[in-house]
Amino acid sequence: MSNITYHKPLVYDIEAMQNLVAEEVEKGLILYRTANEMATTIRSYIVAKDGDMIVGFVALHIHSVTLGEVRSLIVKEGYRNQGIGQNLIKRSLHEASALGLKEVLTLTYQKSLFEKLGFNEIPKESIPEQKIWADCIRCKHFPICDEISLIIKL
Ligand SMILES: CC(C)(COP(=O)(O)OP(=O)(O)OC[C@H]1O[C@@H](n2cnc3c(N)ncnc32)[C@H](O)[C@@H]1OP(=O)(O)O)[C@@H](O)C(=O)NCCC(=O)NCCS
Repeated sequence: MSNITYHKPLVYDIEAMQNLVAEEVEKGLILYRTANEMATTIRSYIVAKDGDMIVGFVALHIHSVTLGEVRSLIVKEGYRNQGIGQNLIKRSLHEASALGLKEVLTLTYQKSLFEKLGFNEIPKESIPEQKIWADCIRCKHFPICDEISLIIKL
């Protein structure tokens, strides 16, 4: 297996991050974010690298004084099923905990991946309104959403 390292990205990494996620954005699995939008939230991201190449990333978005959200999770094809996705989630949970957040939410099609890390499914009605108006409304699948909401208490 390759030697994967984890980093906080620089704004110069945004183009490579957008290229990595382009296919999944096309499929509607991940929401499109502009380079400037990513730059304003660059501190929320963690990237996985194989050498200099970005092979995955995740973002920890903060909704409130208690609630964070793991979002935009992606691992490059050919690097999947080696634990990189789980490592990215674990690192974002560590950041959430270090910031003093109490809970972390996710909306995903990857239920078992998150359950293995201690997330539990919750009714979608309990996700915060600002998530729906900021993100969901921009999604190709809105309002017929078959993603699952899960939450973990820290
Ligand atoms: C979802 C995604 C990020 C997962 O990334 P990943 O690096 O493959 O994730 P992991 O390797 O940590 O886990 C994947 C599976 O491999 C298993 N696994 C973890 N480490 C492993 C290892 N060393 N050997 C074999 N299997 C392993 C995990 O238990 C998990 O099993 P599951 O599918 O039954 O839950 C990746 O498939 C992806 O980018 N998909 C497209 C975009 C997407 O759907 N994003 C999710 C938005 S929330």
